Amino acid sequence: MLEQLNQIEGEALAALEGIAGDERLEGWRVATLGRSSPLMQVFDQLGQMPKEERPAVGRRANEVKRALEAALAERADALRQATLLRALQAEQLDVTLPGRPGARGRLHPATQTLRQIYRIFGEMGFQIYRSREVETDEYNFQLLNFPPNHPAREMQDSYYIDTGTDRGENPVLLRTHTSPGQIRAMREYSAANPDNPPPVRIILPGMCYRYEQISARYEIQFTQVEGLAVGEHITFGDLKGTMSDFARRLFGQQVRTRFRASHFPFTEPSAEADFECFLCGGEGCPVCKYTGWLEILGCGMVHPVVLSNGGYDPRRYTGYAFGIGAERLTMLRHRIEDIRYFWGNDLRFLEQF
Ligand code: PHE
Repeated sequence: MLEQLNQIEGEALAALEGIAGDERLEGWRVATLGRSSPLMQVFDQLGQMPKEERPAVGRRANEVKRALEAALAERADALRQATLLRALQAEQLDVTLPGRPGARGRLHPATQTLRQIYRIFGEMGFQIYRSREVETDEYNFQLLNFPPNHPAREMQDSYYIDTGTDRGENPVLLRTHTSPGQIRAMREYSAANPDNPPPVRIILPGMCYRYEQISARYEIQFTQVEGLAVGEHITFGDLKGTMSDFARRLFGQQVRTRFRASHFPFTEPSAEADFECFLCGGEGCPVCKYTGWLEILGCGMVHPVVLSNGGYDPRRYTGYAFGIGAERLTMLRHRIEDIRYFWGNDLRFLEQF
């Protein structure tokens, strides 16, 4: 019996030497250590053996079993190493080389400013209203109190769209400002309940287009955020309070605001709001061109004609509106000196934010 065990061990070890593949290793394991292998049969036969032989045979059988298991583990390990080595040589892959970090994208600087504006007005109870970028002359101008040939149109040279038909005084164009959304929103709100239209408190963000001579200050496309609040008893005081609060939330509690008289056909009275320069605190510096103030937005009380064009009776309702240029605000905050960077798609610029 002991003789047989020696032979099992010797043959198994010799067979193991010649094995080079994983499947064949598994075959060897089944044949050598599996349930019906000669070695296991020795264990099975132990019971029928004469008592005095049993301890020696049992001990030896266990020895052989442990030796073969160890040899198997060693061989498996050696095969793994050899495979890895072959792969390393063939693929020239150095797993110790530090990885290259993946390039992570980020939000466009104008989008970052937009989100900040959304957050601030969202906290004040304004909802976002999305309006179209392709408009008609009627919505972009006429319903906002710019009659055809009104001189105020000259400030907003437009891109007209060739629709293939003569639309007379109502051509299709790319919106020159977000204000036409005021009419669309008021009409939608008032259509639901014409006798008692609900109050409106919305911001309308989006791209606008003007036929500009492109320069460091003017682009043919830019982002505006329009604001509109309509209801009963809304006053210019509400407009000033809301704009001042916006200034403080954006630039800090100490920032002062001022309003200068201005003109827009769709607001009366109209104003430009200036925020105290956040950089110099009003002392005067290059960002504010040594005035201490930054021109941030146009605003005013919604013109009665615009209210009634939106389905709101101006004898009962009042409202205010404002328009903020997102790129301009971003330029001030980050001291960007050329608006052309925004839509020029140059990563050297975009990666800085
Ligand atoms: N739509 C105006 C512009 O583009 C800005 C504005 C909006 C002014 C709302 C007053 C009220 O110049």
